[in-house]
Amino acid sequence: MPSFTRRHFLTTAASLLPATALTNSWPAPKAPEPASPMRDRYDPWLEVEARALHENINTLSRLAGGRSIISMVKNNSYGLGIALAPKLIEPHPKVKAFGVVKTEECFQLLKSGIRKPILLLARPDDGAEFDLVRHGIQMCLYTPDALSRFEKFSAQLQQRIKVHAYVDTGMNRVGMPHRQAAQWLAELASSPSIELVSTFTDLTEDPEFDLEQVRRLRALADELKQSGLPAGALHAASSHGIYHRPDAHLDLVRPGLSQFGAYPSDYKKEELQAPLIPAYRWSARVVRVSQMEKGDSVSYGRKYIATKPTWIATVPIGHADGYPRTAVNGAVVFIKGRVYPVIGAVSASHTIVALGDEQTVNEGDTAVLVGPDHLAVAPDSVAASSGISVYDLLMHMNPAQPGVGS
Ligand SMILES: Cc1ncc(COP(=O)(O)O)c(C=O)c1O
Repeated sequence: MPSFTRRHFLTTAASLLPATALTNSWPAPKAPEPASPMRDRYDPWLEVEARALHENINTLSRLAGGRSIISMVKNNSYGLGIALAPKLIEPHPKVKAFGVVKTEECFQLLKSGIRKPILLLARPDDGAEFDLVRHGIQMCLYTPDALSRFEKFSAQLQQRIKVHAYVDTGMNRVGMPHRQAAQWLAELASSPSIELVSTFTDLTEDPEFDLEQVRRLRALADELKQSGLPAGALHAASSHGIYHRPDAHLDLVRPGLSQFGAYPSDYKKEELQAPLIPAYRWSARVVRVSQMEKGDSVSYGRKYIATKPTWIATVPIGHADGYPRTAVNGAVVFIKGRVYPVIGAVSASHTIVALGDEQTVNEGDTAVLVGPDHLAVAPDSVAASSGISVYDLLMHMNPAQPGVGS
């Protein structure tokens, strides 16, 4: 069994799938075909489902003892659309704020009408900081000079400015290094210009070291409290921490990936612990159905040669759209209640599936590449059978494709 460490490529494919995943017996097809709001379209599109997002957020909050959530929608909401997914998530009562890491995404969220607080957990573009603050974006501070700048902003805007203190407790990526943080935090917390809404860190997802990181964060917060200063809410846990580190749940949790129905590390164990629902469906429509004769080959490199007469279908999605080239190693596509293996080669804009001895699919049928319709096309199954990280499967989808919410 390979180790399922976060963001590491998975090394085996079909062998990791549940025994049922590659058969056509699961589930008994309930709906004949997903209702597609883009039925006229052949090119790929995305559907994002509010009900699944809300169910997943309920599950994550329950795992975290009912705690509220900062919904991480960075990097185009992990591929599901910077505006689309947050608009569907926003009404959930447990969601207290959104988190992004790109300056532009703050403005895109504002433009799309998001009203809950937006946190920028990264360094803003040069010259953008005042504009962000003026528009109510909450900045995550981590440099020694931040306080003096924010005191100026506060004077200009004649208001206290809400900020979050980002402490590096061992990731060595972003944040004020914890060994230098005590005095800096005390100055932030005591400034009349600033409201310190939260103090937070991110975890390395190492079983022992995570706990040390939490201890470091708590120690800094306790020091503030002893001086009569507020640290604000404490938070550290992303999806992995929600599933695996109850000690890191603190006051709030910050899930990203898991909101969308994919698991952070060991998906089989995590699914047993608390199942999630794929919150998106990635589809395109079949553009050609044909029958190969024995000896005919498929696509570049002739890697698939028919050993008998075989029906095949072409789906107009490829690696330029973000569908993994490695899907040929065992991924399947769901069409009209059944799953079919990807064969040959995934080219830039086309993927071919084998139908078998009979023509079971027609031109124009909807093909679901990833979605909730069958376990074998759930995000984690497609990622595992393609030998890629599920984070990459989501985040590498072409952001230009259209998406609809329901
Ligand atoms: C600071 C921070 N918090 C939370 C998250 C959410 O992580 P995940 O998608 O694993 O839940 C991330 C993502 O990498 C992050 O950088």
